[in-house]
Amino acid sequence: MRGERESRERIVREAEAFAVAELSQDRTGHDAEHVRRVARMAARLAAEEGADADVCAVAAWLHDAADEKLNESKESGLRRVEEWLRRQPMAERDQAHILEIIATMSYNAGANPPMRTLEGKVVQDADRLDAVGAIGIARTFVYAGWRGDLMYDPHLPPREQMTPGEYRRGPSTAINHFHEKLLKLRDRMNTAAARRIAEERHAYMVRYLERFLREWEGLD
Ligand code: ADP
Ligand code: NI
Repeated sequence: MRGERESRERIVREAEAFAVAELSQDRTGHDAEHVRRVARMAARLAAEEGADADVCAVAAWLHDAADEKLNESKESGLRRVEEWLRRQPMAERDQAHILEIIATMSYNAGANPPMRTLEGKVVQDADRLDAVGAIGIARTFVYAGWRGDLMYDPHLPPREQMTPGEYRRGPSTAINHFHEKLLKLRDRMNTAAARRIAEERHAYMVRYLERFLREWEGLD
């Protein structure tokens, strides 16, 4: 069994190298360090929830490699990931499982069905945790800047209902993104371990928003 363990660890390292190479040019919040944080958090959640650590690790490293922003389309991105997976000495079942996680886990304006497996739940939670708290706040402002959005516009109310297309393209601001996504994530965590962490990060964002608006008005 020692050989199998070593080979699985090797695959995780290979997944890291593939992801880092794919994402090295990205400045939209999908940089390699985001993926590294997701892999770290997925390892922590997997240990607490009793999920398959290697499936979680590989899926976490690859989870953004199929993103539309980095590929012609999501389908062509998934095909690249699938080709990579096929070259790995890994059970076909695990390959299919990892591909399914990557294909189904994006936020998509909250429109996607729930993840089917514990490993999928863990990786999705790890990705969502990186969108909240202090890091989530920072990523939001970086992304808004990249989109050319303002950080705040008192005359542009947050959108209540959106299709996935509107979520991606419509006019928004960094502050509105808190209402359109970030503050909703706490109640969408799949695992108890992630819910606990999300609770604290959520409270931190609420305090941040209050303070931001008070400073905006010149009150604090
Ligand atoms: P991921 O799938 O890793 O969550 P996304 O592409 O949805 O990545 O978003 C990358 C980061 O940018 C996340 O932190 C997300 O919350 C943030 N983000 C996404 N859309 C917007 C937006 N319209 N304005 C500001 N931040 C955004
Ligand atoms: Ni991600």
